[in-house]
Amino acid sequence: MEKKIRARIIGTGSYTPPRRMINADFEKIVDTSDEWIVSRTGIRERRIADDDMTTSDMAVQAVQRALEMARCTHEDIDALIVGTVTPDYKVPSTACVIQEKMGMPNAVAFDNLAACAGFLNGLSIARSFIECGVYRKIVVVGVEKLSSITNYKDRNTCVLFGDAAGAAVVAPDDSGAGILSTFMKSAGSLRELLWIPVGGTRNPYSRENALNGSDKLRMSGSDVFKVAVREMCTSALKVVDDAGLERKDIALVVPHQANIRIIDALTKRLGVGSDKVYVNIDMYGNTSSASVPLALDEANRSGRIKPGDHVVMVAFGGGLIWGSALVRW
Ligand code: ACO
Repeated sequence: MEKKIRARIIGTGSYTPPRRMINADFEKIVDTSDEWIVSRTGIRERRIADDDMTTSDMAVQAVQRALEMARCTHEDIDALIVGTVTPDYKVPSTACVIQEKMGMPNAVAFDNLAACAGFLNGLSIARSFIECGVYRKIVVVGVEKLSSITNYKDRNTCVLFGDAAGAAVVAPDDSGAGILSTFMKSAGSLRELLWIPVGGTRNPYSRENALNGSDKLRMSGSDVFKVAVREMCTSALKVVDDAGLERKDIALVVPHQANIRIIDALTKRLGVGSDKVYVNIDMYGNTSSASVPLALDEANRSGRIKPGDHVVMVAFGGGLIWGSALVRW
């Protein structure tokens, strides 16, 4: 019988800028406290890129590390898919900038805008390309310079976000390992729960708008929280079910790192032990599309993931949009 070709992650990489911003730093700029931030979010510090470091600069570091682990050359890459809401430019895509910086002459490069779900959206697209035989070696990236769209006068949001990049190399495999199932869904009717109102064609950028912070991220945190818990749980269970597996088969859950209370609620609803859920939100905060590949790379490099393990990745973000993937490692 012909063996099924699956898309398999053969390398991961990540990058975080060296500059740390700890909770005490926020006590100096907004009315907040370390106690509030830790107890309500789980975040203790986050990384902030220097002004002259762009989104693509961070991505290049993460992609290089993923390529090295995958033992791929730049010429091997057929497609580069980048999830980001903080592109270097409006045009061209950040993927094209990364392609030029790294020299990937044989690749098609494009961005997808799915906020915190950007990496999983890209992984889902890569899976389809590989299973259809369109491309063989694909790099999927999640990268954000969220500090560039954060309003540091708004205590509701500024304490949450950080900068980072994560990447994975995906290739065809017929050994039985690879991506077994993926799921994506969105609810555009809820778009104003998490958005940047100004700067597009609906409300073009103006000096007045910039003064009241409308060109930065706004979020109705508690509304987003409820949808995030519900849909991340449903999405995670769906890919387990679609793969013909059960909850007990899950070796590791790699969730989007938005809030430790969301992760704890997800853990409880999934009925898995907390030792089976990867958490690094304390060190990096919410890095949007970089969050899942950064956590995946840490888990991979630290030996938390073993060959044959079933790993569930799940994310949720502005759109609203959410999704999941189940990988047999
Ligand atoms: N320090 C002190 N007090 C604060 C702070 C702060 N940094 N931020 C908010 N508060 C206050 C509020 O003003 C409010 O005060 P009030 O009762 O006097 O009005 C009180 O704390 C409670 O505010 P809530 O918003 O109800 O607090 P909540 O417990 O919901 O926590 C949070 C807020 C952390 C934002 C949480 O709702 C959350 O994590 N939401 C989900 C975020 C998420 O998943 N985002 C998706 C991905 S992000 C992306 O796509 C880029």
